[in-house]
Amino acid sequence: MKFFVDTADTEEIRELSDTGLLDGVTTNPSLIAKTGRDFLEVVKEISTIVDGPVSAEVAAVDYETMLEEGKKLAGIAENITVKVPLTMAGLKTCSQLSRAGTQVNVTLCFSAAQAILAAKAGATYVSPFVGRLDDIGQDGMQLIGDIVQIYNNYPALNTEVLVASIRNPTHIVTAGLMGADVCTIPPQVLKQLVSHPLTDKGLAGFMADWEKTGQSILG
Ligand code: E4P
Repeated sequence: MKFFVDTADTEEIRELSDTGLLDGVTTNPSLIAKTGRDFLEVVKEISTIVDGPVSAEVAAVDYETMLEEGKKLAGIAENITVKVPLTMAGLKTCSQLSRAGTQVNVTLCFSAAQAILAAKAGATYVSPFVGRLDDIGQDGMQLIGDIVQIYNNYPALNTEVLVASIRNPTHIVTAGLMGADVCTIPPQVLKQLVSHPLTDKGLAGFMADWEKTGQSILG
């Protein structure tokens, strides 16, 4: 399973990228707004920090402007993935861009029917938002299971399932069990993944016993 980080904070991206655990980055207009920085400048900087795909979202809602914006974003760097919303205009933009060889992430997916359309439009990724479905009392992970199953029925489809709006480590583990391709994870959840109280307790015990030996590995 690939791990993307869901943030536009370049310091956080640098820190996580240094761990070697990161396969890509996703941003959205809200995450960009949080940085208070210039959109194109931030995206450009992120694209130099990570080698993997960096999703940059269009801001228009009409097809013509969306396409123009998508082309401009794709021109920033080779690893830019253009993010478009799951609307008819977004799907049309996706078809055009993907036919021209641009990677496209179709975002704001909330149903299996929408995910089928994204695949038909040639999306590189479809982003179902699990946390936002959970928030309204639906089962976000059930949607992931459905999409993975549908896509698996058609091996010719190349669209990857990118689990988005992740709120906790359980979402990621369940995504793995379901065979989702990618999880885009908020930095704080990514850091949560590593912790386990028994790891901390076990390490403290090993360190205390090691000290008793009076030895040093490095001499
Ligand atoms: C996906 O690419 C989105 O940026 C993101 O996962 C949205 O998540 P949220 O529901 O936490 O805003």
